[in-house]
Amino acid sequence: MDSDPSRLTEAEAAARLAELADLIARANTAYHREDAPEISDADYDALKRENAALEAAFPHLKRADSPSEQVGAAPAEGFGKVEHELPMLSLGNAFDEEDVTEFVRSVRRYLGLAEEESLTFTAEPKIDGLSLSLRYEKGELIHAATRGDGRTGENVTANARTIDDIPTTLTGAPDVLEVRGEVYMSHADFKALNERQDESGGKTFANPRNAAAGSLRQLDPEITRARPLRFFAYAWGVLSAPLAETQSGAIARLGDLGFQVNPLTKRCESLQEMLDHYAWIEQRRADLGYDIDGVVYKLDDLALQRRLGMRSTTPRWAIAHKFPAELAWTRLEAIDIQVGRTGALSPVARLTPVTVGGVVVSNATLHNEDYIAGRDAKGNPIRDGKDIRVGDLVQVYRAGDVIPKIADVDLSKRPGDAVPYVFPERCPECGSDAIREEGDAVRRCTGGLICPAQAVEKLKHFVSRAAFDIEGLGAKQVELFHTLGWIAEPADIFTLSARDAETKALRPPAERLAERLARRDEAADRAALLADLSGILSDMGHAPDGPEEAEVAAALDTLSRTPLSEIKGWGEKSAKNLFEAIDERRKIPLARVIFALGIRHVGEAAAGLLANHYGSWEAAETALTNAEVGQGPDWEDLIGVDGVGAVMAASVVTTFQQEAERASIDRLVAHLTIEAPQRRNTEGSPVAGKTLVFTGTLEKMTRAEAKARAEAMGAKVAGSVSAKTDLVIAGPGAGSKAKKAEELGIETIDEDGWLSLIGDA
Ligand code: IVH
Repeated sequence: MDSDPSRLTEAEAAARLAELADLIARANTAYHREDAPEISDADYDALKRENAALEAAFPHLKRADSPSEQVGAAPAEGFGKVEHELPMLSLGNAFDEEDVTEFVRSVRRYLGLAEEESLTFTAEPKIDGLSLSLRYEKGELIHAATRGDGRTGENVTANARTIDDIPTTLTGAPDVLEVRGEVYMSHADFKALNERQDESGGKTFANPRNAAAGSLRQLDPEITRARPLRFFAYAWGVLSAPLAETQSGAIARLGDLGFQVNPLTKRCESLQEMLDHYAWIEQRRADLGYDIDGVVYKLDDLALQRRLGMRSTTPRWAIAHKFPAELAWTRLEAIDIQVGRTGALSPVARLTPVTVGGVVVSNATLHNEDYIAGRDAKGNPIRDGKDIRVGDLVQVYRAGDVIPKIADVDLSKRPGDAVPYVFPERCPECGSDAIREEGDAVRRCTGGLICPAQAVEKLKHFVSRAAFDIEGLGAKQVELFHTLGWIAEPADIFTLSARDAETKALRPPAERLAERLARRDEAADRAALLADLSGILSDMGHAPDGPEEAEVAAALDTLSRTPLSEIKGWGEKSAKNLFEAIDERRKIPLARVIFALGIRHVGEAAAGLLANHYGSWEAAETALTNAEVGQGPDWEDLIGVDGVGAVMAASVVTTFQQEAERASIDRLVAHLTIEAPQRRNTEGSPVAGKTLVFTGTLEKMTRAEAKARAEAMGAKVAGSVSAKTDLVIAGPGAGSKAKKAEELGIETIDEDGWLSLIGDA
């Protein structure tokens, strides 16, 4: 195309403007997905310039969707959300034969199988891609969704339709059929794609998995179409009719329906056969033409799969046997200390970047001071007692998706001037003492709420996915708002919009800045803080007039008085979206609130247990305020919850009774409407809402299965008998618990009584 606009006819100019609008929009889309600009920055600028010149020459031809009206790139609209009717599970991991043996043993134990009873498993490659759920209704592909958090995924239907391995219509399928499997890219296609990207000046991908993920998550399905993605089916979700009675049968059926199923799948009749097949697949790994990272074993009998059921995010009937991690040697350049939300000082290794299993690694965890010194928690030597020093040549590995670790140190390559690492005894962030309590492997900052690092980590945890999950308020924004002095604790998030028009600063910026500077002993550190803040202020369009404290403070003050919608990088729409997203979370389920508090030892699963146990915020608050660590009815009640141990219980009670923590929690809760947990479909269940205790030997099902069944019917299962127990199920050999039940006058039944109660006699 001629670049001189004055030579074009009107019709040619109009056609070219349409083309440019299209090209620029497409480039914007590509740029906005994190992975892959399709054209170079220079080419993009040239398109924009050509567009502007044409518009100047033919003002009346300027289009309604003119790219010159869009500031920067168009905001990515993102994908719609799809709720998975059945959650998309992940898998537990086994790293060696012992783990697999224990897995098989635990399945047998759960099912109460005798030794001579055989059990069949399938063994198949674990594909290293990303999982996808495809929903078909009456044989038509209705939608395709990524796993997301397992409950809600992204709607990528238009993209899935462009993948050859994914049929858009099926014949002879159940009316409703959700097929689940892995989207991946072959080695050959990956190589060719990277070559093309390189030639066009686009971004290349680190490995086939990233390439597959980046290609599937394109907002423009035409880009996905141009990327050679493939799909293996290996599981299913909702079904209107069963596919088969066995895992292997169901997979064969999916194959008959037109899906690609992995040809290396095998039925194994024994543990030995499973391990042999693992070894066989591992031998072929390099020649498969696509990445796999292990072997998945699944119980073949689907009726038994159903009996085993699942834990919170993983099935009890399957496990992934991972291939050994890849290793690489590199230099340890420095050891940094990070302060976590509970004050833990975590040493992080800064490494000379090295590629391990297709991923560039530049950081690794060093766990704690004992680990660096070359001993475990009990004082026994690890790595033959070799300590880790800055300057050492170290061997790093990645196991699965986890953070890289250090496996070994090469003492023969240790620099002569390397000195043993001295672990700090003061918090590097707030200067408070860092104390290591007896029996704790970790040294912790005692600064509590005054430690800025702890405050930021708490806030990040608070907005994380399983906690408040506020759209548009991720770790990055939280850190920014905290640095600017706009939020100090979770409650502040909910007052931000009310403060937006006046001043978002919680305290006068000059005062806070003076305090932060005073905490730094070195002039260089103080200058670094001022420079950091100046950088942030400039990025937000409020560069200070100079580098001095007073000038930075003044800029912070002006910025804080500027409504978010007028700040560079935000704008009307994102500010409005943020405040709306925050408002949406004022109503929130109890379990999320408990998890979000970031109490030590209380993870997502434990928060769920506590929420179910107490049933409401008020009940939890009253009980935890009154509880005494180690004694009394509220304590007994709490540790009676199956899955809650004394350590966790003490941590929860202490948090609720620690004055400053508690005040902060109360300030938060004042902004919230906390929803009671929904009981599962337990209508008509004779044990819904009741607290049961199993004791003695059960003969018809194992304790674990009985507990899972009871919970599925809405009961709570406690580990000990108390006044709050409603029913005790006592098998032969029941001892003190049955006796206590009798003393307290609690109804006690035997196993047959239990089975007939739940309608399973
Ligand atoms: S079965 C109910 N089979 O691995 C279990 N998963 O680490 C559902 N994956 O989220 C998964 N190959 O994305 C299964 N042959 C295979 C797999 C496989 C890869 C992925 C899947 C899952 C992840 C868990």
